[in-house]
Amino acid sequence: MTDVTRPRRSLGELVVPPLALGSWNTWDRMDPDAAVAMIRRAVELDAGFFDVAYYNMGPHAENSRTDILFGEALRASGVARSEIVLCGKLWLWDWPNQSFRAQLVESLERAGLDRFDTLVVGDYMAEPDVPRLVADVNALIDEGLVGGWGINNWRIGHTRAALEEAAARGLQGPSFAQLKYGIARRAMAEGAAYGPLFSDGTLALQASDVFEGGILATGLEPQRKIGADVGGIRERIAALYPEVERIAGEFGVTPAALGIAFCLAHPAVANVLFGASRISQLEQNHAALALVAEYGAEVREALAGLQADVEVRDDGAW
Ligand SMILES: NC(=O)c1ccc[n+]([C@@H]2O[C@H](COP(=O)([O-])OP(=O)(O)OC[C@H]3O[C@@H](n4cnc5c(N)ncnc54)[C@H](OP(=O)(O)O)[C@@H]3O)[C@@H](O)[C@H]2O)c1
Repeated sequence: MTDVTRPRRSLGELVVPPLALGSWNTWDRMDPDAAVAMIRRAVELDAGFFDVAYYNMGPHAENSRTDILFGEALRASGVARSEIVLCGKLWLWDWPNQSFRAQLVESLERAGLDRFDTLVVGDYMAEPDVPRLVADVNALIDEGLVGGWGINNWRIGHTRAALEEAAARGLQGPSFAQLKYGIARRAMAEGAAYGPLFSDGTLALQASDVFEGGILATGLEPQRKIGADVGGIRERIAALYPEVERIAGEFGVTPAALGIAFCLAHPAVANVLFGASRISQLEQNHAALALVAEYGAEVREALAGLQADVEVRDDGAW
């Protein structure tokens, strides 16, 4: 199935591959040769989109070296910069105290890069100053350090305010939302708050945390830190695994591939960002492209009853 591709979709101003690889707890859990091989294979398997973040702040004060290791592996891989899409990350935990420019320059330097194609502005606990935020991101765009931007798990009111602010000032607003989305967590990606922005094309959707940190890929609780459990529903999600595994078996794929196909069948999803720490995982996950191409509607139907976050708010407030 390795030659199956899916027509590429737009993530804002970028045309992107349907699969994307996360950097959180991935490159730092591989040996260097495996990381090089993973990057090369990702380009072959429609996954040449890499999320590159410096995990050093707020809930992510982990001082991880994963971004540095990614940069080293990318250079060793010989993969041309033009063949891949690179997505950076800005944190709001200590902003504006720590400026976006300082964060981005440090992040680029650590990975040995000169520019990100796009970036994600992360979530927050304190209300962000949206007009200043939009201006600060646009200053980075004007400087050529990044091409565009998206938001990560923002409350809908702030996302709309950023879009309005950008439109009023002739600036670039967010063009995509990276949201938690998968078989069990659907509230924000499919709910009424973000829905109109996806259906009218204002925002593209990047699905992330799709396996709930691995739980819906293996049925096991990962030992490493995984994403936040919005709504406190993780136990309920873990309990769904046997049914996910059964349905995956019916389609002849792994639970992970089924989870990705589920997301790709959503019309607004430009790509699916997942973590993989072994090439075999990436290869299995690539089977999602063939599955969704042939059985997208059937996959959605088979999984219809497995939403675990029906009572979780869809507007990003929690
Ligand atoms: N928007 C958000 O709220 C949010 C939250 C968390 C993360 N993120 C972003 O999304 C990216 C991915 O998140 P994540 O890696 O934490 O979670 P994830 O993608 O849900 O889970 C990744 C883990 O699933 C396991 N896995 C993947 N494919 C598999 C396969 N075919 N078979 C068996 N196991 C498989 C691997 O576990 P092992 O490596 O242990 O084998 C892998 O590390 C991050 O890098 C980050 O950029 C966003």
